[in-house]
Amino acid sequence: MDTQVGIVGGGPAGLMLSHLLHLKGIDSVVLESRTRREVEYTIRAGVLEQSTVDLMVDTGVGDRMKREGRAHQGIELRFGGRGHRIAFDELTSGRAVTVYPQHEVLKDLIAQRLTDDGDIRFGVSKVRIHDHTSGTPKITYRDSEGNDQMLTCALVAGCDGSRTSIRDLIPGDVVRNDYFRRYPFAWYGILAEAPPSSEELIYANHPRGFALVSTRTPEVQRHYLQVDTDDSVDDWSDDRIWSELHARVDGEGVEIKDGKIFLKSILQFRSFVCEPMQHGNLFLAGDAAHTTPPTGAKGMNLAIADVYFLSKAMAEYFANRGRGRLDGYTETVLPRVWRTQHFSWWMSSMLHRLPDEAGFGHQRQVAELDMVTRSVAGRTLVAENYVGTPFE
Ligand code: PHB
Repeated sequence: MDTQVGIVGGGPAGLMLSHLLHLKGIDSVVLESRTRREVEYTIRAGVLEQSTVDLMVDTGVGDRMKREGRAHQGIELRFGGRGHRIAFDELTSGRAVTVYPQHEVLKDLIAQRLTDDGDIRFGVSKVRIHDHTSGTPKITYRDSEGNDQMLTCALVAGCDGSRTSIRDLIPGDVVRNDYFRRYPFAWYGILAEAPPSSEELIYANHPRGFALVSTRTPEVQRHYLQVDTDDSVDDWSDDRIWSELHARVDGEGVEIKDGKIFLKSILQFRSFVCEPMQHGNLFLAGDAAHTTPPTGAKGMNLAIADVYFLSKAMAEYFANRGRGRLDGYTETVLPRVWRTQHFSWWMSSMLHRLPDEAGFGHQRQVAELDMVTRSVAGRTLVAENYVGTPFE
């Protein structure tokens, strides 16, 4: 056996799994198709739930996040030109989120794995898993130098994101159910050199479409606009982006602060869940098993939750305490997966302009937002789900 756990994918799920296993004395190898530089510099989401923050701190990878990340005690839901604050601290007995970009989490995990002599192989291709229902699954791949390699392990984790092909090893006809939903809108995301427009994130429902005011640092802001699914990056000039952000967000207490846009991208929306998340000695975690639309910033947090439970199950297995927890992995994590799916879908459908029902649909959304923000129970529901539920 070359390693105990073969991990395909060096994103949040794969790297955190490798780190957690190491802390339990279990050896793993991470195979990643991208270069280290690509992993460390690709811009993704930026909001960490309280449980993600706690896990990073408790397992020794939270120092830089504590220094450079920013705790946010609330968000604003904005509709009818007015903001309505959801105060996490009051509504969730002290839980909060931290704004700290995903690629910074990955830098911290990679640095820690390398300090601990962890084995991460970047730039691999042609990854295939064999015999995953046997006691000795194998992973074949081509390394970054072009040499064909084989890795024999006891367990395999598929952590290689939504475009995984590993999922297909769970037989589609008899065992696997895929649940999929597409949305009739997309997000246009920018990074801009500008001062913050707001101290907290703003989720704005507007008849022209949704807008999100987010941030990265005091000097760099991250904003999103709802656009059509077939819009392309070039359809939007800088002027059009800023005037649309002003139109959708400016109002009582807020005025968007313009700046120099240095990154533009389009994010498509979809919800996806694959059940079960395992087959034989193969286990899926993170986006390989499920995708959420970005409205609640849940993707990375759900990936971290998956591997928290998966690492425990694997540790029990390697301690010769049976396969109980391993076999129950899907059952353990699935309720959280579906709660998160519901929250991301709910936030998305409450906040975006729905192309086919602009009139009635918009009034209904405003009534829903009014109901949610007016009552403590409504605000608590948003707050608890936004900061995320504890792991145990
Ligand atoms: C982000 O800052 O990238 C971000 C924040 C909140 C979301 C989604 C994305 O809901």
